Amino acid sequence: MKNFLSANDAGNIDDLVHTALHFKTNPFSNSSLGKGKRIGLLFLNPSMRTRLSTQIAAQNLGMESIVFNASQEGWAFEFEEGAVMNGTTAEHIKDAAPILGKYFDILGIRTFPTLKDRESDYAEKVLHQFVKYCGIPVISLESATLHPLQSLTDIITISSHLPVENKTKPKVLLTWAPHVKALPQCVANSFAQWVNAWGHANFVITNPAGYDLDEKFTSGAEIIHNQDEALKDADFVYVKNWSSYQDYGKIINVDDNWLLDNKKLETTNDAKVMHCLPVRRNVELSDEILDGGNSIITEEAGNRVWAAQAVIQEILRNV
Ligand code: CP
Repeated sequence: MKNFLSANDAGNIDDLVHTALHFKTNPFSNSSLGKGKRIGLLFLNPSMRTRLSTQIAAQNLGMESIVFNASQEGWAFEFEEGAVMNGTTAEHIKDAAPILGKYFDILGIRTFPTLKDRESDYAEKVLHQFVKYCGIPVISLESATLHPLQSLTDIITISSHLPVENKTKPKVLLTWAPHVKALPQCVANSFAQWVNAWGHANFVITNPAGYDLDEKFTSGAEIIHNQDEALKDADFVYVKNWSSYQDYGKIINVDDNWLLDNKKLETTNDAKVMHCLPVRRNVELSDEILDGGNSIITEEAGNRVWAAQAVIQEILRNV
């Protein structure tokens, strides 16, 4: 593995899951691999889980990690080729990224979408310029369109809840949920990309009309616009809000109630409920689900460490 930017970089997903679950029971089993190596974690946007879990994962492998909250503490980056930098930006990515490549052995980057310019966001303009100019392996800590460390975590979490001798594919449902803010599509895109690539689930996505995701990621899933119908017999329900892809970055008014509660769960196969967090209680997901026995959300967030550790180990083996 050179970079980790999407499911396309994962190689065999089952192998990565196996490695992550090994680390879950043996966190320090390869604690000298990263000795003398350093990972830089550069955040252009806020984070709690990704920031902390990736640091812990690196430390478990013997690496040093340095976090740089670039949007708050650094110079404002310029990404336009040929820009006349007489405005608010102070440092071009072509100058900054190679320096990060001198300081670190691996670079992690979090960069959110504009939600205004779909073409630029879906071209992953910011992330790809770091990759182009830094000269070292890059791990996406969430980008404009994808969140691969989260999605690997989600597959690990689902896998660890499947019976050992599982003969039938579980029904995995990704459901849209309400929110007060316009959020990126990246977690949902990424979950769809990974579940499709993993191939061990009957995968269904439910969302209101106007919220269909990019087919590039969802192709292979069944799309149902009626949430009640989609919930029937689900084994796992992954809850997430996203803003419109078609009417890019917009919140479209929805008539039906899409907030998941225990009543709605009754037609599922006693489904486990997942969410990447952070979550707005009683807006995106009800208290009774979050505090109830079907939620595996805290366990899911805990698994972020093992996903990151499996990925960093794969990259370290090649640096
Ligand atoms: N799920 C997730 O990425 O959480 P953070 O934004 O806190 O890193």
